[in-house]
Amino acid sequence: MRILVIGATGLLGKEIMALLSEEHDVVGASRNSPAVSVDISDKQSILAMYKQVGTVDAVVCVGGTAKFAPLDALTDDDFAFSLANKLMGQVNLVRYGVPYISQGGSVTLTSGLLAHHPMLGGAAVSTVNAGIEAFGRAAALELQGKLRVNVVSPGWVWETLEAMGRDSAKGVRAAVVAQAYRKCILEDISGQVVSVTH
Ligand SMILES: NC(=O)c1ccc[n+]([C@@H]2O[C@H](COP(=O)([O-])OP(=O)(O)OC[C@H]3O[C@@H](n4cnc5c(N)ncnc54)[C@H](OP(=O)(O)O)[C@@H]3O)[C@@H](O)[C@H]2O)c1
Repeated sequence: MRILVIGATGLLGKEIMALLSEEHDVVGASRNSPAVSVDISDKQSILAMYKQVGTVDAVVCVGGTAKFAPLDALTDDDFAFSLANKLMGQVNLVRYGVPYISQGGSVTLTSGLLAHHPMLGGAAVSTVNAGIEAFGRAAALELQGKLRVNVVSPGWVWETLEAMGRDSAKGVRAAVVAQAYRKCILEDISGQVVSVTH
């Protein structure tokens, strides 16, 4: 299988690349990836990436960001940035990816725990994550018979909590989260939100 991983240089991306490379031909991309550079907040950049990479059997996205800040500190620009980046970036990976993904192939997007479990400072992130899950279910319905669309919702990742100096015992290892992406690629599921928590 030929698989495109966006966000390949990040914490989860590296684990997914390592796991999938054991069995598949995997192409990694991100803004600063030397081989395939893409900024998912830019439609033209997404189109150029697909043109460069060509046909794939699966697309995984663990790239894109949204702003953390208290509600009264989040600016219009912060919301616009978050929506254009992690949300519309992933929406557009599906919309513009359809011609490049082989029949019966899959796209696996990433949301996160904050879609359903709010925390202080996470209003923009919660909005984005919930949007990704809603889009994933709707796109799966629209694309039925053509390609599968699923969303992985990681809880706090062990390595991230460790890096933040927080209690990592409540986290799930990045290698465990990576298995959820493999499941979405290999199993005949669509329209699912796969939660991975401790
Ligand atoms: N870690 C956690 O605890 C956790 C928990 C829940 C959900 N998540 C979600 O899981 C995803 C991955 O998390 P992570 O911890 O692996 O993040 P990370 O280590 O910060 O890695 C992010 C990756 O995405 C790329 N990227 C960022 N913005 C991009 C853009 N606009 N276009 C293309 N690539 C972009 C980065 O590379 P470049 O800088 O080269 O572009 C990098 O490869 C994120 O959506 C995050 O919100 C993470």
